[in-house]
Amino acid sequence: MKALILAGGSGTRLRPLTHTSAKQLVPIANKPILFYGIEGLVEAGISEIGIITGETGTEVRQVVGNGSQWGITISYIPQHEPLGLAHCVLIAQDFLGNDDFVMYLGDNMLEQNLRDLVKDFKNKRTNSELDCRILLKKVANPSSFGVAVVNDAGHVTGLVEKPENPPSDLALVGVYLFTAVIHQAVASIVPSARGELEITDAIQWLIEQGLAVDHDILEGWWIDTGKKDPLLECNRLVLGTINSSINDEASISSNSVINGPVQVGRQSSIAGSTITGPVVIGENVTIENCQIGPYASIGDGCVLSSTTLDDSVLLKNCSISMAGRITSSLLGRSSSVTGTTSATTTSLMLGDDSIVELR
Ligand code: TTP
Repeated sequence: MKALILAGGSGTRLRPLTHTSAKQLVPIANKPILFYGIEGLVEAGISEIGIITGETGTEVRQVVGNGSQWGITISYIPQHEPLGLAHCVLIAQDFLGNDDFVMYLGDNMLEQNLRDLVKDFKNKRTNSELDCRILLKKVANPSSFGVAVVNDAGHVTGLVEKPENPPSDLALVGVYLFTAVIHQAVASIVPSARGELEITDAIQWLIEQGLAVDHDILEGWWIDTGKKDPLLECNRLVLGTINSSINDEASISSNSVINGPVQVGRQSSIAGSTITGPVVIGENVTIENCQIGPYASIGDGCVLSSTTLDDSVLLKNCSISMAGRITSSLLGRSSSVTGTTSATTTSLMLGDDSIVELR
């Protein structure tokens, strides 16, 4: 079984960050979102992964490499334009061949591991007819998702994209299990009103041909990290699972206080500060006279002074000084935020190299 990870797309909902960088590489607890997906697939026993890339393909290749860091093979399939999820399957046909595969949206994060899902799919495939399995999650606001109609026997009888009157509260999660018959489906459908080849239309095509489409209900949380607030929620959820670890080469002054689970990387120094976990601090980070946490992920090379920071993700090399309280924020690489008072509370979404002066 192979896997196809979709890491192209436009990322309009995460602008300005996605003007210069891939949304799938934004870190959650200081690890790129895409790595969680790859590691989940590797853990499920998959050793051949194809990654669809778009405009940010060079950066994705550079960060992810050829898969050797996970002992697997990773190939890249460039998509010249984001023409839809089913278009990704269409252009990956040479890579996928006749194999069953997991299709994984590269900006999605799941709590549940993929091991049991993949194992169960393989078992069902050996014992009965099964052409496709979708994953569903009960949601409070189905109108914002692709929604499935499931009959009493557990068969999926229809799919609707962002329905005004949802036929169920079961949303399609960004992980799909396909057999090679999906290639016929993606070749048979036409672009939707928004000009994309929709994977929901391809699955609907399978259903209309009388093929067996079943489902699994996902346990645990599932987050599409394509927007700031869900991304920060995901950061909180992942940070909620960390253990403490302070690198031997980190220095923490005696006038600093560390509470709860806190990770500090090599060559980072903390002075006159209180860190309230869960917090992850990367390498070569300098923190002076700050209140950090809970729920902060601070990338390598950041410099923070006289600031309060919580519920935020800072990419590499950001600097923040005298900025009051920064909360619910996502800061692109090498962003700088400076202020003159500790009395303000600010929430920011900054692209790479941004400069903000708070007065
Ligand atoms: P989306 O988040 O649905 O699409 P998008 O990246 O264009 O985002 P936005 O709506 O903010 O503009 O895509 C889900 C995943 O699939 C994401 O990792 C990007 C990827 N993708 C592709 O690789 N190719 C495509 O043609 C599309 C539409 C998405």
